[in-house]
Amino acid sequence: MPSAGKSPRGSVPPICLDEFPFSGTGEAPSPGVLGSTTDRACPGPARGHTPRAVERITEPQLMDDLAQAAAYAGADFDEPHRQFVEELSSRINDLTVLTRVVDLGCGPGHIPLNLLARHPAMRIDAIDGAEAMIQQATALAKGRPGADRLRLIHGVLPGASLPEPQYDLVLSSSLLHHFRDPSDFWADVKRLAAPGGHVFMVDLRRPPSRGDVSALVDRYSEEETELLRRDFYRSLCASFTPQEVRAQLVAAGLSLSVQSLGDRHLVVWGRLR
Ligand SMILES: C[S@@+](CC[C@H](N)C(=O)[O-])C[C@H]1O[C@@H](n2cnc3c(N)ncnc32)[C@H](O)[C@@H]1O
Repeated sequence: MPSAGKSPRGSVPPICLDEFPFSGTGEAPSPGVLGSTTDRACPGPARGHTPRAVERITEPQLMDDLAQAAAYAGADFDEPHRQFVEELSSRINDLTVLTRVVDLGCGPGHIPLNLLARHPAMRIDAIDGAEAMIQQATALAKGRPGADRLRLIHGVLPGASLPEPQYDLVLSSSLLHHFRDPSDFWADVKRLAAPGGHVFMVDLRRPPSRGDVSALVDRYSEEETELLRRDFYRSLCASFTPQEVRAQLVAAGLSLSVQSLGDRHLVVWGRLR
């Protein structure tokens, strides 16, 4: 998830890591070098313990549980989505001429709908591997400005077929951390970006310690359901550090920039040669 979107909360008891066991839900580890990964059960809470570094723990890839998709679609992600659109506009010049756009892992479609309302020439193909998410996006798009320029596609990446072979702008928000092997994600970015095309993606970044993970969940998901708080916790643990993403880009032969963004995100952007 992008992050639980509401304002930081005040004095709420810290989350107990035991509430979010990973046993049996994580996927098999991906090759370690580009973000060391494990699927073992998440160890117990850090209460009173020396903080330990967070090892990457993958989470289930698709959000195709109906309740999970509905909870995600109904959650308040206004702040991270607004930030996504602002960062995109500040890092990529003249979005108005980029008409062929693809959004990878679009979820309920908040970001493409937001962009389509702002950019009348933009057309967006938005793909998600979860049928439940595409259903949420279809419902959300009804009657929204620019929805006639949105094509919602159900397909699992990497390799899913899209209406266009290549795009002027490849977008993604909070998808990379879902990939067991991040090289699959970057291979698809390369496949789908036209020569000279732009890439812009934002994802969570893995905090340095389990105490930091808990603090972020407490800070940003006060009013969210336990389901969303659990998903946020797991997503933070499944995400990558900026250093790991830089190594992934080198391995993929992609010359893109990576920067930390705020207290829980990272941004990757640039143009393909
Ligand atoms: C955390 S949500 C982000 C949704 C949206 N981009 C946003 O920022 O609100 C990640 C989405 O990616 C989808 N997803 C995960 N792995 C995928 C894959 N391999 N192919 C296509 N979609 C995938 C999930 O089903 C989920 O809807």
